[in-house]
Amino acid sequence: MDLSSNHRGAWGSRIGFILAAAGSAIGLGNIWRFPYVTGENGGAAFVLFYFIFVLIIGLPVMISELAIGRHTQKNPVGAFSALANRSWWPLLGILGVATGVGILSYYSVIAGWTLGYFIKAIGGSFTDMNGEQAMQHFTQFVSDPKTSLIYLVVFLGITGMVVMGGVSSGIERWAKILMPVLLFLLIVLTLRSVTLQGAKEGLAFYLKPDFSKISLSMLANALGQALFSLSLGMGTMITYGSYIAKRENLAISAGYVCLFDTLIAIISGLMIFPALFAMGLDPEGGPGLVFVVLPTIFEQMPGGFIFGAGFFLLLTVAALTSTISLLEVPVAYMVDEKKWRRPKAVLLMTLLALILGVPSALSQGAVSWLSNIPLIGLGFLDFANILLGNYSLTTGALFIAIFVGYKWGVKNVIKEVTLENNQFYFANLWSFLIRFFCPIAILAIFMYILITRNYF
Ligand code: PHE
Repeated sequence: MDLSSNHRGAWGSRIGFILAAAGSAIGLGNIWRFPYVTGENGGAAFVLFYFIFVLIIGLPVMISELAIGRHTQKNPVGAFSALANRSWWPLLGILGVATGVGILSYYSVIAGWTLGYFIKAIGGSFTDMNGEQAMQHFTQFVSDPKTSLIYLVVFLGITGMVVMGGVSSGIERWAKILMPVLLFLLIVLTLRSVTLQGAKEGLAFYLKPDFSKISLSMLANALGQALFSLSLGMGTMITYGSYIAKRENLAISAGYVCLFDTLIAIISGLMIFPALFAMGLDPEGGPGLVFVVLPTIFEQMPGGFIFGAGFFLLLTVAALTSTISLLEVPVAYMVDEKKWRRPKAVLLMTLLALILGVPSALSQGAVSWLSNIPLIGLGFLDFANILLGNYSLTTGALFIAIFVGYKWGVKNVIKEVTLENNQFYFANLWSFLIRFFCPIAILAIFMYILITRNYF
């Protein structure tokens, strides 16, 4: 089928697709989450396992998602219905669509904070601030319901406008502009960070593995981080794959996306840890790391005003290319399956994410029972993050591996990848990983969580 005549839309070029998919993968997951999770899990040893999981679980699952998407040219629900009609498999697609709206809702709250911090940075709010003041500033900022809600609305509005533009003129055009800008800003900030006095200790923490830090829970965190960061387990790559032309090599494209995503994560660590240690701060600062620690770091840097504004702009940009992909999944579902027109689908799905995002936005102190859910003991946003960003994606990845390995069949994926004389290097290794290694490794991690009852 000629994709250009397809009303669903298609990527305009190979690089356009790779940048759009890399844009989905690269986001708060790399720049905000990766450094703080690395900090909490002991540094370089965690980073090593994160890499291993990207390579032996992330890459195989990504190739599978892209093949399912391109073969069926459908959204996740339509794709599983097409390949396994009259079965339970389409539920896996429904789980993906629901997860997409859910992640979009709380992810946009955090993305809204980054936008707010960018505006604050331009306004010079971060001058003369020590660590404690920065913490107070952050707490005050996120616990003001009006501010949180306004930024949530603004950020979701921007996301909706881009997705409204469609596949090649909306998502692809923006990704082509935004991704290179992001890389440039990151490199500038990293150069500043590694040349600070006292940066060496941070580099050692980040790059020299201490193998005594290895534990099962560290492995579970490394896997969750790898899936979240690569946008896997909810059909984002099925949806993005459905717009790829048949002539493209899916395995190589997936390789590039994994490479770029990992590269940005590595650079983000290089940006944060040297500066962190140079300022004598604690790497186990948790999720507030970026918002609390960085403003104080920038404040103590020559030209910190520029770096501060640049950093939060960068984080907002990175988050936007990810929220675009999160919204595209439910929108594609509505357009394909419910025959909605794109504007209607975008409007209603954005609105749904906004409504679902309200509890997350208010959970930072504004509404006390949302800040601490009884029994679970977590705030609503953290709860949503773990439930959707962690469990839902890991479950999705597990069943996608099982689907490809035992239902649709590895041969069909290989056939899809090798269309038009494309090479699938290491196809046998991929088959082994997707049929045996991925399901067993993910199940083992689930078992560990069940046995230790370490759910949250
Ligand atoms: N990968 C994105 C990030 O790292 C988040 C995301 C997860 C996007 C799942 C789409 C699907 O920020």
